[in-house]
Amino acid sequence: MNIMAIYASHSKIVNRCNMELIIAKNYDEISDKASEIFIELIKRNPEAKLGLATGSSPLGLYQRLIQAYNKHEISFKQITTFNLDEYVGISRNHPQSYFSFMNENLFKHIDIDLDHVHLPDNDLSKIDTIAKDYNKLLRKNPIDLQVLGIGSNGHIGFNEPGTPLGNETFVVELDEQTRNDNSRFFGHVDLVPTHAITMGIKNIMRAKHIILIASGKEKSDAIYQMLYGEVTTDLPASVLQLHPNCTVIIDEEAARLLP
Ligand code: F6R
Repeated sequence: MNIMAIYASHSKIVNRCNMELIIAKNYDEISDKASEIFIELIKRNPEAKLGLATGSSPLGLYQRLIQAYNKHEISFKQITTFNLDEYVGISRNHPQSYFSFMNENLFKHIDIDLDHVHLPDNDLSKIDTIAKDYNKLLRKNPIDLQVLGIGSNGHIGFNEPGTPLGNETFVVELDEQTRNDNSRFFGHVDLVPTHAITMGIKNIMRAKHIILIASGKEKSDAIYQMLYGEVTTDLPASVLQLHPNCTVIIDEEAARLLP
Protein backbone atom coordinates (compact mmCIF):
# COMPACT_ATOMS: atom_id res chain seq x y z
CA MET A 1 0.00 0.00 0.00
CA ASN A 2 1.51 3.31 -0.91
CA ILE A 3 1.38 6.27 1.40
CA MET A 4 -1.53 7.97 -0.39
CA ALA A 5 -3.60 4.81 -0.08
CA ILE A 6 -2.94 4.71 3.64
CA TYR A 7 -4.09 8.30 3.93
CA ALA A 8 -7.09 7.82 1.74
CA SER A 9 -8.32 4.93 3.82
CA HIS A 10 -8.03 7.04 6.98
CA SER A 11 -9.19 10.37 5.62
CA LYS A 12 -12.71 11.48 6.43
CA ILE A 13 -14.80 14.56 6.78
CA VAL A 14 -15.78 15.10 10.40
CA ASN A 15 -18.31 17.19 12.26
CA ARG A 16 -20.94 19.48 10.86
CA CYS A 17 -18.31 21.83 9.52
CA ASN A 18 -16.52 19.81 6.86
CA MET A 19 -13.08 19.77 8.45
CA GLU A 20 -10.98 17.13 6.74
CA LEU A 21 -9.40 14.68 9.16
CA ILE A 22 -6.45 12.50 8.24
CA ILE A 23 -5.30 9.95 10.80
CA ALA A 24 -1.73 8.95 10.14
CA LYS A 25 0.05 6.03 11.79
CA ASN A 26 2.75 8.11 13.38
CA TYR A 27 4.64 11.38 13.32
CA ASP A 28 6.58 10.49 10.15
CA GLU A 29 3.36 9.95 8.23
CA ILE A 30 1.96 13.24 9.53
CA SER A 31 5.10 15.00 8.26
CA ASP A 32 4.94 13.17 4.91
CA LYS A 33 1.36 14.21 4.31
CA ALA A 34 1.82 17.82 5.45
CA SER A 35 4.94 18.18 3.28
CA GLU A 36 3.13 16.77 0.22
CA ILE A 37 0.55 19.55 0.53
CA PHE A 38 3.24 22.23 0.93
CA ILE A 39 5.38 20.90 -1.92
CA GLU A 40 2.40 20.66 -4.26
CA LEU A 41 1.50 24.30 -3.51
CA ILE A 42 5.06 25.57 -3.97
CA LYS A 43 5.33 23.77 -7.33
CA ARG A 44 1.97 25.18 -8.45
CA ASN A 45 2.64 28.66 -7.09
CA PRO A 46 6.35 29.46 -6.62
CA GLU A 47 5.33 32.86 -5.16
CA ALA A 48 3.07 31.36 -2.49
CA LYS A 49 2.71 33.00 0.90
CA LEU A 50 3.22 30.52 3.71
CA GLY A 51 2.17 30.81 7.33
CA LEU A 52 4.65 29.01 9.58
CA ALA A 53 4.70 27.70 13.14
CA THR A 54 7.45 26.67 15.56
CA GLY A 55 7.54 23.97 18.25
CA SER A 56 7.98 20.22 17.83
CA SER A 57 5.04 19.56 15.52
CA PRO A 58 6.33 21.09 12.24
CA LEU A 59 9.95 19.86 12.55
CA GLY A 60 9.38 16.80 10.32
CA LEU A 61 7.58 18.97 7.77
CA TYR A 62 10.51 21.41 7.65
CA GLN A 63 13.01 18.54 7.25
CA ARG A 64 11.04 17.25 4.27
CA LEU A 65 10.86 20.71 2.70
CA ILE A 66 14.64 20.99 3.04
CA GLN A 67 15.04 17.56 1.41
CA ALA A 68 12.77 18.56 -1.48
CA TYR A 69 14.83 21.74 -1.93
CA ASN A 70 18.10 19.74 -1.90
CA LYS A 71 16.68 17.44 -4.57
CA HIS A 72 15.85 20.54 -6.69
CA GLU A 73 12.15 19.71 -6.56
CA ILE A 74 11.25 23.15 -5.19
CA SER A 75 12.78 26.57 -4.70
CA PHE A 76 11.90 29.14 -2.05
CA LYS A 77 13.41 32.09 -3.96
CA GLN A 78 10.06 33.79 -4.48
CA ILE A 79 8.27 32.39 -1.43
CA THR A 80 7.21 34.72 1.38
CA THR A 81 6.70 33.50 4.95
CA PHE A 82 4.89 34.82 8.01
CA ASN A 83 5.39 33.24 11.41
CA LEU A 84 2.61 33.01 13.93
CA ASP A 85 4.37 34.23 17.01
CA GLU A 86 7.48 35.16 18.97
CA TYR A 87 8.37 35.31 22.65
CA VAL A 88 8.60 38.72 24.30
CA GLY A 89 11.27 39.31 26.93
CA ILE A 90 14.15 37.41 25.29
CA SER A 91 16.33 38.73 22.51
CA ARG A 92 15.77 37.56 18.94
CA ASN A 93 19.23 36.00 19.11
CA HIS A 94 18.34 33.86 22.15
CA PRO A 95 18.65 30.19 21.09
CA GLN A 96 15.01 29.58 22.03
CA SER A 97 13.57 32.62 20.23
CA TYR A 98 11.32 31.66 17.35
CA PHE A 99 13.54 33.74 15.08
CA SER A 100 16.48 31.43 15.99
CA PHE A 101 14.25 28.35 15.71
CA MET A 102 13.19 29.21 12.17
CA ASN A 103 16.73 29.97 11.05
CA GLU A 104 18.10 26.75 12.55
CA ASN A 105 15.32 24.46 11.38
CA LEU A 106 14.44 25.87 7.98
CA PHE A 107 15.66 29.19 6.65
CA LYS A 108 19.43 28.62 6.76
CA HIS A 109 19.03 25.38 4.78
CA ILE A 110 17.04 26.76 1.83
CA ASP A 111 17.31 29.50 -0.81
CA ILE A 112 14.71 31.81 0.71
CA ASP A 113 15.33 35.56 0.44
CA LEU A 114 15.51 36.70 4.08
CA ASP A 115 13.74 39.94 3.07
CA HIS A 116 10.71 37.74 2.40
CA VAL A 117 10.77 36.22 5.89
CA HIS A 118 8.51 37.76 8.52
CA LEU A 119 8.21 37.09 12.24
CA PRO A 120 6.65 39.57 14.64
CA ASP A 121 9.47 41.62 16.20
CA ASN A 122 9.55 41.49 20.00
CA ASP A 123 11.00 44.84 21.08
CA LEU A 124 8.77 45.66 24.05
CA SER A 125 9.26 49.43 23.73
CA LYS A 126 7.65 49.39 20.25
CA ILE A 127 5.31 46.47 20.64
CA ASP A 128 2.05 48.30 19.80
CA THR A 129 3.49 49.62 16.53
CA ILE A 130 4.95 46.20 15.76
CA ALA A 131 1.54 44.55 16.19
CA LYS A 132 -0.19 47.16 14.00
CA ASP A 133 2.46 46.86 11.29
CA TYR A 134 2.24 43.06 11.32
CA ASN A 135 -1.53 43.26 10.86
CA LYS A 136 -1.10 45.64 7.92
CA LEU A 137 1.43 43.32 6.35
CA LEU A 138 -0.84 40.30 6.81
CA ARG A 139 -3.83 42.10 5.35
CA LYS A 140 -1.78 43.01 2.27
CA ASN A 141 -0.44 39.47 1.89
CA PRO A 142 -3.16 36.85 2.35
CA ILE A 143 -1.62 33.55 3.42
CA ASP A 144 -2.12 30.70 0.97
CA LEU A 145 -1.24 27.89 3.34
CA GLN A 146 -0.89 28.09 7.12
CA VAL A 147 0.53 25.29 9.27
CA LEU A 148 -0.61 25.17 12.90
CA GLY A 149 0.28 23.07 15.91
CA ILE A 150 -2.09 22.92 18.86
CA GLY A 151 -1.35 23.45 22.55
CA SER A 152 -2.50 20.82 25.05
CA ASN A 153 -4.89 23.56 26.25
CA GLY A 154 -6.24 24.05 22.72
CA HIS A 155 -4.29 27.19 21.84
CA ILE A 156 -3.38 28.02 18.24
CA GLY A 157 -0.55 30.45 17.72
CA PHE A 158 -0.40 31.79 21.27
CA ASN A 159 -4.13 32.45 21.42
CA GLU A 160 -4.66 31.04 24.88
CA PRO A 161 -8.08 29.98 26.24
CA GLY A 162 -10.24 33.06 26.75
CA THR A 163 -8.77 35.03 23.84
CA PRO A 164 -11.49 36.88 21.89
CA LEU A 165 -12.01 35.31 18.47
CA GLY A 166 -11.84 38.75 16.80
CA ASN A 167 -8.28 39.49 17.95
CA GLU A 168 -5.57 40.46 15.49
CA THR A 169 -1.85 40.43 16.39
CA PHE A 170 -1.46 41.21 20.10
CA VAL A 171 0.70 40.64 23.15
CA VAL A 172 -0.45 37.76 25.32
CA GLU A 173 0.39 36.55 28.80
CA LEU A 174 1.17 32.84 28.42
CA ASP A 175 -0.85 30.25 30.31
CA GLU A 176 0.87 28.35 33.11
CA GLN A 177 0.12 25.14 31.14
CA THR A 178 1.81 26.53 28.01
CA ARG A 179 4.87 27.63 30.00
CA ASN A 180 5.08 24.16 31.58
CA ASP A 181 4.67 22.46 28.17
CA ASN A 182 7.44 24.63 26.70
CA SER A 183 9.82 24.33 29.67
CA ARG A 184 11.38 21.33 27.85
CA PHE A 185 13.02 23.81 25.47
CA PHE A 186 14.31 26.12 28.22
CA GLY A 187 15.39 23.60 30.87
CA HIS A 188 13.16 25.10 33.60
CA VAL A 189 9.72 26.65 33.63
CA ASP A 190 11.04 29.83 35.32
CA LEU A 191 13.17 30.48 32.23
CA VAL A 192 10.18 30.39 29.85
CA PRO A 193 9.09 33.94 28.96
CA THR A 194 5.81 35.04 30.52
CA HIS A 195 4.63 36.89 27.38
CA ALA A 196 4.57 36.52 23.61
CA ILE A 197 3.35 38.41 20.57
CA THR A 198 1.05 36.37 18.36
CA MET A 199 -1.16 36.58 15.30
CA GLY A 200 -4.74 36.74 16.48
CA ILE A 201 -7.40 34.25 15.54
CA LYS A 202 -8.77 36.69 12.97
CA ASN A 203 -5.40 36.76 11.17
CA ILE A 204 -5.16 32.96 11.24
CA MET A 205 -8.70 32.47 9.94
CA ARG A 206 -7.94 34.54 6.83
CA ALA A 207 -5.53 31.88 5.51
CA LYS A 208 -6.88 30.20 2.39
CA HIS A 209 -5.95 26.72 3.57
CA ILE A 210 -5.01 25.67 7.10
CA ILE A 211 -3.26 22.45 8.07
CA LEU A 212 -3.26 21.61 11.77
CA ILE A 213 -0.87 18.85 12.81
CA ALA A 214 -0.66 17.08 16.17
CA SER A 215 0.88 13.95 17.57
CA GLY A 216 0.86 12.19 20.91
CA LYS A 217 -1.74 11.45 23.56
CA GLU A 218 -1.09 14.77 25.36
CA LYS A 219 -2.97 16.42 22.49
CA SER A 220 -5.89 13.97 22.35
CA ASP A 221 -8.28 15.89 24.60
CA ALA A 222 -7.70 19.19 22.76
CA ILE A 223 -8.15 17.39 19.42
CA TYR A 224 -11.42 15.83 20.52
CA GLN A 225 -12.79 19.18 21.70
CA MET A 226 -11.54 20.99 18.62
CA LEU A 227 -13.36 18.58 16.29
CA TYR A 228 -16.48 17.70 18.26
CA GLY A 229 -16.94 20.37 20.94
CA GLU A 230 -18.69 23.70 20.76
CA VAL A 231 -16.93 26.62 19.12
CA THR A 232 -15.76 28.45 22.23
CA THR A 233 -13.01 30.80 23.36
CA ASP A 234 -12.30 28.21 26.09
CA LEU A 235 -10.75 26.03 23.35
CA PRO A 236 -9.42 28.46 20.73
CA ALA A 237 -8.72 25.76 18.11
CA SER A 238 -12.47 25.00 17.99
CA VAL A 239 -12.84 28.13 15.84
CA LEU A 240 -11.29 26.12 13.00
CA GLN A 241 -14.68 24.42 12.64
CA LEU A 242 -15.74 27.70 11.01
CA HIS A 243 -12.90 27.69 8.48
CA PRO A 244 -13.91 26.63 4.96
CA ASN A 245 -10.69 24.75 4.14
CA CYS A 246 -9.03 23.16 7.14
CA THR A 247 -7.15 19.85 7.08
CA VAL A 248 -6.32 18.18 10.40
CA ILE A 249 -3.48 15.64 10.28
CA ILE A 250 -2.91 13.68 13.48
CA ASP A 251 -1.48 10.35 14.58
CA GLU A 252 -3.36 7.49 16.21
CA GLU A 253 -2.33 8.61 19.72
CA ALA A 254 -3.73 12.10 19.23
CA ALA A 255 -6.87 10.50 17.75
CA ARG A 256 -7.43 8.08 20.64
CA LEU A 257 -10.53 9.86 22.05
CA LEU A 258 -12.28 10.27 18.70
CA PRO A 259 -15.42 8.23 17.94
C1 F6R B 1 4.22 27.80 17.77
C2 F6R B 1 2.81 27.93 18.12
C3 F6R B 1 2.15 27.02 19.11
C4 F6R B 1 2.53 25.56 18.94
C5 F6R B 1 1.84 24.70 20.01
C6 F6R B 1 2.23 23.24 19.89
O1 F6R B 1 4.57 28.76 16.80
O2 F6R B 1 2.17 28.79 17.62
O3 F6R B 1 0.75 27.16 19.01
O4 F6R B 1 2.15 25.13 17.67
O5 F6R B 1 2.19 25.17 21.26
O6 F6R B 1 3.58 23.11 20.17
P1 F6R B 1 4.35 21.75 19.90
O7 F6R B 1 4.31 21.52 18.44
O8 F6R B 1 5.75 22.00 20.40
O9 F6R B 1 3.63 20.70 20.68
